[in-house]
Amino acid sequence: MKSNPERKLVKNYARAFAPATVSNIGPGFDLMGFPLFDLGDIVEVTVNDLSCSRITDIVGNTTLSKELEKNTAGAAVKSFLDKHAPGEFVDIVLHKLLPIGSGLGSSAASAVAAVVAVNALLSKPLEIKDLVEHALDGEVVASGTRHGDNVIPSLVGGVVVISDPVHFNYFKFDAPEDLIVLTFHPHVEIKTSEARAMLPKMVSVSDSIKQTAGAVTLITGMIKGDYTLLKAASSDFIAEPFRSKLIPGYHEIKFMASSSEAIAMNISGSGPTSFVFFRTLEDAGLFIPKIENVYDKIGLGIDINISKINNTGAQILEVR
Ligand code: HSE
Repeated sequence: MKSNPERKLVKNYARAFAPATVSNIGPGFDLMGFPLFDLGDIVEVTVNDLSCSRITDIVGNTTLSKELEKNTAGAAVKSFLDKHAPGEFVDIVLHKLLPIGSGLGSSAASAVAAVVAVNALLSKPLEIKDLVEHALDGEVVASGTRHGDNVIPSLVGGVVVISDPVHFNYFKFDAPEDLIVLTFHPHVEIKTSEARAMLPKMVSVSDSIKQTAGAVTLITGMIKGDYTLLKAASSDFIAEPFRSKLIPGYHEIKFMASSSEAIAMNISGSGPTSFVFFRTLEDAGLFIPKIENVYDKIGLGIDINISKINNTGAQILEVR
């Protein structure tokens, strides 16, 4: 990098990780989410001396566009640099570790890792809350609408509740320490944009009352660590009735969950990944063969992951 006192980007290289997320959490459609451990995307950015930013490599995926504005990581970086370091550019390497169209907030994770990495190049990096708009500018490329329930939890960690979905104001709190989250990802791809298009335009008053009751109960249960109240995560009157039809085996597994040690189950984001809450690792382990049996019968591959809720969110891995 040439030395130039006008430059806003004072570091040359940064690498960041952003975690996968479970969004909606049942009754919190577009308003609630939390990140997981271990699963996520990594983005590297290196300052270049060209007149544009470029995606130079996407490791682990051959189908995503390398065109800057058609890629969630690229669009997020562009949005950030246009505002905070106009005229300065980076090369981007995306390590696409999450499956796309999985319901794990894959596009949000790429966008979040990208803005966290590029922010680390500034002499005075912005506060985390100021990165939200740029990560959303990236994620919208994939989902077609701006919704913050993947981007914000991936960025800030913990259980996130969006208090103002117009301006993306939010609050967050740490999840109950011992709560176990099992996610299973049947190998079908669901595009968020299509899963949103299939939702009803109107919700009845009675469904909206039930949805509000579920959301309030879930938040209270999360804050108090009251697992009985977390059962509310099983309810959703907006998306689950429609989207569950796209997920082979979903109803069978939800029925088994309701008669097991599981606390609650629902679809993660737009699916097909679904989450099940458990009190203990042992309970979660006992449920795994039941899920595997269902997908063996259907003849569909699955990935199963067990995690706690990640209260930290995205992280800078290296900056120099
Ligand atoms: N709240 C969004 C939806 C999340 O359900 O469409 C998508 O990951």
